[in-house]
Amino acid sequence: MNICVVGTGYVGLVSGVCFSEVGHHVTCVDQDEHKIKQLIAGRSPIYEPGIEELLVKNQKNRRLRFTTNLKEAMDKANLVVIAVGTPANEDGSANLSFIESVAKEIGDHLTSYKVIVTKSTVPVGTGEKIKNWIQEQCGKMAFDVASNPEFLREGTAIYDTMHMERAVLGVESEKAKELLIELHKPFNTNLVITDLATAEMSKYAANAFLATKISFINEVANVCEQLDADVTKVAEVMGLDPRIGSAFLGAGIGYGGSCFPKDTQAFIQMGQSAGYSLKIVPEVEKVNFEQRKRLVMKAKQAFGVEGLRGKQIAVLGLAFKPNTDDMRAAPARDIIPMLTGLGAEVRAYDPVAMQAAVSYLPHITFASSWQEAARDADAVMILTDWKEFKELNLNELKDELASLIVIDGRNLFDPQLMKHHGFYYDSVGRAK
Ligand code: UGA
Repeated sequence: MNICVVGTGYVGLVSGVCFSEVGHHVTCVDQDEHKIKQLIAGRSPIYEPGIEELLVKNQKNRRLRFTTNLKEAMDKANLVVIAVGTPANEDGSANLSFIESVAKEIGDHLTSYKVIVTKSTVPVGTGEKIKNWIQEQCGKMAFDVASNPEFLREGTAIYDTMHMERAVLGVESEKAKELLIELHKPFNTNLVITDLATAEMSKYAANAFLATKISFINEVANVCEQLDADVTKVAEVMGLDPRIGSAFLGAGIGYGGSCFPKDTQAFIQMGQSAGYSLKIVPEVEKVNFEQRKRLVMKAKQAFGVEGLRGKQIAVLGLAFKPNTDDMRAAPARDIIPMLTGLGAEVRAYDPVAMQAAVSYLPHITFASSWQEAARDADAVMILTDWKEFKELNLNELKDELASLIVIDGRNLFDPQLMKHHGFYYDSVGRAK
C-alpha cells in the first residue's frame, strides 16, 4: 500500500516507521524542515528504543520517505493518515486547529479518491468536521474519512505497534473498510470495525479507564498505609483475577505524560458539551494530584519538627515514566516546586530527561549521575522507576548520603531490606 502520514510526532512517526517495516510504502510529511532533515539523516527527534534502526533500514530499502511537501506525498497515496497534535485548550477541551488546517490542505491537494484516516486523539464528532473541512476545499472529488485511534505507549511505542492487540477501524464505506483491513493485515491483529463516533470514543474510554485504575490503586494504597497492609501484594491478588488484570495497578505518585492528563480533561469537556457530566473521571484527576502532595508530606514527615527548610534533597528521576525523556505533565514538575516551596534544595538526576527538564525546573541543580545527586544529601526522593535506580547499590547509596532517608514514589525497594540497611524508608501503600 502507499501511505502518506501527516505529522511526525510520536504517533505519526512511530506509525509511519512501523507501516514501512511491515512492507507498506510510506511518506511522512511535516512542516518542520529541521525535523525532516534530521529524520532523513536517520536521527529520531524523540527518544524511543529501536526507532533509529528502523528509520535507517526502511529509508535504505526505499519504503520510507520524509518530506515537507504534502502535495507530493499525497500524490500516489491511497491512504492519508492525520497524526498531528491536539493540544489542550485552556478549558481542557482538545484544540483542533492543527487538524483543521491539515484537513483543509488535504482537501486542496485531493486529485483522486483517497481514504483520510485520523490517528490523533480527537473528540467524538471530529471525523464529521474533517469531512466538511476537506469537502469545502475539494468540491466533488470523492473521498472517505475514517478513524483509527492509536494505543501505543511511549518508551515501548515500536513494540506496541508491531504487536498491537487490536485496531479500531471507524469507517463509513466498504472501500474505506477494505483499505484499512489491508493496512492492518501484516500486523495480524484483532480488528474492531465500527462507525466513526464509536472509534473516536473508544480511545477516550480506554485512556480514562487506565487512569481510573491508577487512581483506584493509589487510593487503596492510601488506606493500606493507615492499616499496615501492603498495596503491592493487594494488587497482585487483584491482578490474578482475569476480570481485573494485573496491569496498571502500580501505586505511586499518579500518572503523567502527554496522554492521560490531557485525555481525561478532554473527555470531561466532551461529556459536558454533550449534556452529560462525568462523575468518576474528575475524581480520578483529583486523586492523581493528591498523590503528588502526599509524597511531599512524607518527605516533610521524615524530618519531623525540623521540616524541609535548608535540606538537600536528591531527586532521582524526572521523566513521567522510564525509557522516555518526556517531561509533559511529569509528576516531578508538581513535586519539585512543592519541595523548594517548603525551603528544600533539590539536586536532580535523570538518565535521559535532564535536558528536557531544565526549562521546567529552573530553580534546581542537576547532577550527572545518581551518585553525584545523592552526595551529602539529606534525603533521596525517587520519582521515576528507571531500571538504573531499581538496581542501584544500596551500600554505595549509604556511603553517598549525609542521612539515610529514602522517600520512594515508585515502590522500587523492599521495605524490610531497606530497614535492614538502616534506612528510614517511606514508599507508597506499604508500612514504613
Ligand atoms: C498511554 C496509554 O497507556 C496508551 O495506551 C495510549 O496510547 C497513550 O497513553 C496515548 O494516549 O497516546 P503513555 O502515556 O505513553 O501511554 O504511558 P503509560 O505507560 O500508559 O503511563 C502513563 C502514566 O501512568 C505514567 O506516568 C506512569 O508512571 C503511570 N502509571 C502507569 C502508574 O502510575 N501506575 C501504573 O501501574 C501504570
